[in-house]
Amino acid sequence: MQYHGPCTRNLLFLHPWFQVSILFSGFRGLQNTKRGSYWPAKEIHFQATHSMPPEKIEIFKSMESWAEKNLLKHLKPVEKSWQPQDFLPRADSEGFYEQVEELRERAKELPDDYFVVLAGDMITEEALPTYQTALNTLDGVRDETGASLSPWAVWNRGWTAEENRHGDLLNKYLYLSGRVDMRQIEKTIQYLIGCGMDFKCENNPYNFFIYTSFQERATFISHGNTARLARRYGDNKLAHICGTIAADEKRHEIAYTMIVEKLFEIDPDTTVLALADMMRKKIVMPALLIYDGQDDNLFDNYSAVAQKLGVYTAKDYAENIEFLVGRWNVEGLTGLSGEGRRAQDFVCRLPARIRRLEERAQEKANKAPAIRFSWIRY
Ligand SMILES: [Fe+2]
Ligand SMILES: [Fe+2]
Repeated sequence: MQYHGPCTRNLLFLHPWFQVSILFSGFRGLQNTKRGSYWPAKEIHFQATHSMPPEKIEIFKSMESWAEKNLLKHLKPVEKSWQPQDFLPRADSEGFYEQVEELRERAKELPDDYFVVLAGDMITEEALPTYQTALNTLDGVRDETGASLSPWAVWNRGWTAEENRHGDLLNKYLYLSGRVDMRQIEKTIQYLIGCGMDFKCENNPYNFFIYTSFQERATFISHGNTARLARRYGDNKLAHICGTIAADEKRHEIAYTMIVEKLFEIDPDTTVLALADMMRKKIVMPALLIYDGQDDNLFDNYSAVAQKLGVYTAKDYAENIEFLVGRWNVEGLTGLSGEGRRAQDFVCRLPARIRRLEERAQEKANKAPAIRFSWIRY
């Protein structure tokens, strides 16, 4: 069976995790060949690798003392970090059952669609092994041993350790809520990690740090919106959970955008070319290959609900690009090569082009038929 998935049908349904991606053309090369039950449920073909010229590795080596001084301070020490237990009923306390009961009562007030988005967000967070793997494919900044003391590697592991709490907290919350089919969700996580993801960054840290800047900002917006909606439905405790995760994502966004800002300072031509390249290739969502064993269009369907609910919309997406292009002062870059100037021009015109697509995206999402998800107990 050939599966030419998400991108051709619902080009305009944007979701935090897929962000920049699927706006301009289809994501080619996504197939489901079902070679055997052990094989990934979905495959990405045409994967490119090692696009960064080897001499550029020196740039990242030369940035190590800068990274140690400026990047690592954006990680929070473990002793000062929140843990999932801070937001959940304590199983070792006397009031455990009452607290669970209260949590479940509050959860009853939230609509099914809200749980679709929350489950999809949690599943995406739970595929963290894929993202740490991706970080460690990067030339010049990968963790060479698994315990390397290079500041890049210390960041990679510290970031992963912080992110690990996000899936953990949402997973436990969803389990206790009684609103979801946990077995279906757990299967989806297993499928997704088994599929992996090609982020189209080609082992190139210029590309990847641009990708993560978009990604972290998008997750900040998305978790912020699930917090806002929870509050609207009267569940302030869930709002606090989502808001706390959003605050982590904001800190990560600040760190990654700062790396890219530094790259623009040291090597503006390569950086603006990388930015244009990532925009043209489309920044693909980590959960693009999401599959629950039943729904071949699960990614589309989940993204449509996120758009419809206003958790992450085409408007957010356009604003995200606009913000970052402004944050890096792409318009004000000088001394670029001809190719660099063309890339600059392309990137600066992008937000306006995307804005023209916003309305269509919302209209399409509003008209999308109601889909039943295997994750939800209807
Ligand atoms: Fe996260
Ligand atoms: Fe994050």
